[in-house]
Amino acid sequence: MKITIEPAEKIRGRIKVPGDKSISHRALLFSALTENNVEIEGLLKAEDTLSTQNCLAELGVEFKENGSKLLVKGKGLRGLEEPKDVLNAGNSGTTARLLAGLLAGQPFHSTLSGDSSLRGRPMQRVTEPLRLMGASINGRNNGCLLPLSIRGYDLLPINYALPVASAQVKSALLIAGLFSRGVSEIIDSYNTRDHTERALRYLGASINKPGKYHIRLEGPAKLYGERFRIPGDISAAAYFIVAAALAPQGELYIENVGINPTRTGILDVLIKMGAKVRILNEKEYNCEPAADLLIEGGRQLRGIEINGEMIPRLIDEIPILAVAALFAEGEMIIRGAAELRIKESDRLKAMALELQKMGARVQELPDGLVIRGGAKLTGARCESHGDHRIAMALATAALFAEKESVISGAEVVRISFPGFFEVLSELST
Ligand code: S3P
Repeated sequence: MKITIEPAEKIRGRIKVPGDKSISHRALLFSALTENNVEIEGLLKAEDTLSTQNCLAELGVEFKENGSKLLVKGKGLRGLEEPKDVLNAGNSGTTARLLAGLLAGQPFHSTLSGDSSLRGRPMQRVTEPLRLMGASINGRNNGCLLPLSIRGYDLLPINYALPVASAQVKSALLIAGLFSRGVSEIIDSYNTRDHTERALRYLGASINKPGKYHIRLEGPAKLYGERFRIPGDISAAAYFIVAAALAPQGELYIENVGINPTRTGILDVLIKMGAKVRILNEKEYNCEPAADLLIEGGRQLRGIEINGEMIPRLIDEIPILAVAALFAEGEMIIRGAAELRIKESDRLKAMALELQKMGARVQELPDGLVIRGGAKLTGARCESHGDHRIAMALATAALFAEKESVISGAEVVRISFPGFFEVLSELST
């Protein structure tokens, strides 16, 4: 699908964004492991979360839609069934890696695969520690790539320092730890998103954080819960937040956005760059903080340097942050983000290439980007690289180009935000 984006002067309105994708995956997976039935409210309905739901259904979990809510019949920790077919994680790294942790604890055989992008993404980061816990895992390239064939056993607890800053790896090990007998200790690499820890605490698992990066979980766990309420996704809101901050005029109000501190790097950086963002009506959704956001346009932003501990807090927002930097004064330097090369696409390469087509001055670094602000963007014909976040970031950039732009492969937004273009056109005039 090709989409045409016209330049906009104003971003104005009041919107809601879809449910948080990371929390939605976890709500589905953990509800399936509870001892009772759980009602999920605010679940993201998009291709990635549907991949998780379909894989769980293959493992014998029953789901029932009830209006806007989804009812999950918990199977308990020992109630999953051997799947009759390959589990297809589609495009979703979170589905594949979290399920690898789940399958490592099952007394049956399963095969896990995904689409061509996911089959090229590294899995050794989960298979290596899961093997240390006792799981038997085979796959291409000695278990580094999907498809993986997994046969679980009685797992041993693990004591493991994460070699990469990855919430997916941390979560896979915590999920496997639920099935083991004893205490697992995981040392995070910086503070990656902690939705797994919060959800497990909410469901009554014995999990705590004795140190800044240190997580302790006691298995085997029994999980109980009746209701999951999921806040809006800050990663989905980020495109509109940046659009509103860059617009010469206008004001945007976004209701109920998750503001977990492991995810709010985008707000901190935009505020530091000079954007006017206010956090209002703070509330809590099952151990997850949320709030409304109010963004005003018409401010001149400044480029800054970001790296280190900040990177995991905005890892999925780097493409849209690169767009904000194009219109800032001075240079923006992003380092320590080599992980972006192994996401749904090589996001550093894709953003540099596509923004250059619009006339931007962007230089690729091995682990980041240098973006020179103040450029005038011309409209261009761009390509999504099959990556939802690239498509949404380019569409946002196109609002501020001199002429219309065309983005091909735009249907990929269905991965995380099926109604993205409708909301974008509603807001922009
Ligand atoms: C996610 C963790 C991050 C993030 C991804 C979602 C999660 O990936 O980029 O979009 O839900 O745990 P990594 O764990 O690979 O950093």
